[in-house]
Amino acid sequence: MPHPPLAPTIQLADGRAIPQVGYGMYKVPAADATRLALEAIRIGYRHLDTAALYGNEAEAGAAVRECGLPRDDLFVTSKVWNDDHGYDETLRAFDASMDRFGLDRLDLYLIHWPVPSQDRYVDTWRALVRLREEGRATSIGVSNFHAHHLERLIDETGVTPVVNQVELHPWLPQRELRAAHERLGVRTEAWSPLARGRLLGDPVLERIAAKHGRSAAQVVLAWHVANGTIVIPKASSPERIAENLDVFSFRLDEDDVAALDGLESGERTGRDPDDD
Ligand SMILES: NC(=O)c1ccc[n+]([C@@H]2O[C@H](COP(=O)([O-])OP(=O)(O)OC[C@H]3O[C@@H](n4cnc5c(N)ncnc54)[C@H](OP(=O)(O)O)[C@@H]3O)[C@@H](O)[C@H]2O)c1
Repeated sequence: MPHPPLAPTIQLADGRAIPQVGYGMYKVPAADATRLALEAIRIGYRHLDTAALYGNEAEAGAAVRECGLPRDDLFVTSKVWNDDHGYDETLRAFDASMDRFGLDRLDLYLIHWPVPSQDRYVDTWRALVRLREEGRATSIGVSNFHAHHLERLIDETGVTPVVNQVELHPWLPQRELRAAHERLGVRTEAWSPLARGRLLGDPVLERIAAKHGRSAAQVVLAWHVANGTIVIPKASSPERIAENLDVFSFRLDEDDVAALDGLESGERTGRDPDDD
């Protein structure tokens, strides 16, 4: 099978660019992670999404070091976990992550969850600002932030995250949050873009997939791409990993988009960020 072309990049407010499709590594077992990340890079992915929580930073780093591409051709994201909120704790957690990666910088470092019950995400953010100033994290952002969390960070530090990585898929299109991102200059990145695979059997998707001669997963990812969202689907086979990158060679029409928009149910596969 010929490889799909590289994903286009999305411009971030700090002048950097992020490949619109990345390989999501949550629940990729450490034993498989280097092989699958190398496979993703071989297929044409240039963006890996992991986190301290996922237990595969070392394996992702090995793939980056072993793939044969210049470091600057790859975009690597990781995230500080909830146990490490606070200024000093976050700096230490970053050092530990970098030791695992075996890399000297990250392209994007995110606060994984705001954890409002701890009320430390502003201090955590100040640590990320320092890491960016030191060049150890080229870009910094957040994940699972509601608009009111974002606004507080910006009000208290004057620094706007370049992305907010949130649960987003046709069941949960996050319209209000996206409008807030637009207003604040934050790029939207979708986690669980396929709702963890749960929405793929939907007859609406199957009908649109048959019409375009594509898979249901490709139809959902094309909907994200049409919305300008950064997506990081996770898959466990080379065939699916390749399929998920091959979403730029066809276009959904207005009827398709309207049908996908009609799937909104508000259903989350993960937690509400305000509940932690
Ligand atoms: N920031 C956060 O809090 C957060 C939370 C969750 C996830 N994430 C990130 O987002 C990434 C993606 O989210 P996710 O892994 O939860 O869910 P997802 O990408 O929406 O869905 C993954 C599931 O869909 C299946 N799948 C993938 N491609 C497919 C295809 N072409 N055809 C049929 N089934 C397919 C996968 O199966 P197989 O694996 O069996 O192939 C897997 O079960 C994560 O890996 C992680 O990097 C971030």
